[in-house]
Amino acid sequence: MIGPKIGSVFTSGECILQGSVSVSVHGSGIPILMVHGFALDHRMWHHQIDAFGKEYRVIAVDVPGCGNSHASRNQSIAEMAIEIFEAVEPHFEGQAAIYMGLSMGGYIGWEMISRYRTAFQAAVMCDTRAAADMPTTAEGRRQMAKKVLEEGVESVLAPMIPRLLSDQTQAEQPAVVELMKSMMFRVPPQTVHDHQIAMSQRQDFQPSLAIFDLPMLLICGTEDILTPPKEMKRMAEGLPNACYVEIETAGHMAPLEQPVIVNEHIARFLQQ
Ligand code: MLT
Repeated sequence: MIGPKIGSVFTSGECILQGSVSVSVHGSGIPILMVHGFALDHRMWHHQIDAFGKEYRVIAVDVPGCGNSHASRNQSIAEMAIEIFEAVEPHFEGQAAIYMGLSMGGYIGWEMISRYRTAFQAAVMCDTRAAADMPTTAEGRRQMAKKVLEEGVESVLAPMIPRLLSDQTQAEQPAVVELMKSMMFRVPPQTVHDHQIAMSQRQDFQPSLAIFDLPMLLICGTEDILTPPKEMKRMAEGLPNACYVEIETAGHMAPLEQPVIVNEHIARFLQQ
């Protein structure tokens, strides 16, 4: 597989600022909203933007504080969902959209879909969970939030990379590792702090899975240690209309690590 080009613009859509949210729009058709994970930006979706940005209207955002978006201080996950929705909704042009989120992008998705249910017709949730943090996880986030302000982003984010990518990706796809660094190391320390605090306080959607009655595709890397297959499978069983697929040899970043197979699953789901 050919790895991504580093630091370049992968796709033709220009980033425009809608309020403080950077939005890039590609193609026309049914809208697909793509929301990236923690400390990343819209480039994590570049294979999906290239694959779906012709037949669909792909709308890829940078979460406030990441990529080209401006920071909004101390936002909750719910406030991020509202701010992003208000920025992208005009691009839906009256059509119900498909939500696509990875990890923290999934946390934002539960908030957004639950608030604006009729604006969405389907969702693809990658390497994420609906449950809130366990107390020990929340405490770890508070420690990271403190440390990043004292020591900077590389000291807290570099050790995350081996936990985000499978061993095989790290060994065989150096371009993916480089892209991860180029996204992560540009995120301001204050954003890392604020997003960790926001995630530690996010709502628990596990008891409300039944409200997410739209068709949903759940995708999980078999080597994902952050949101492991066992947990995503259990979540799929609690959702009224979900199917679940595992992606061999991928870690937490399945759409970036194994884009060909992930895109096949997404294409099949979208055609149903
Ligand atoms: C992410 O990839 O967005 C993070 O791993 C989410 C989290 O820390 O829970």
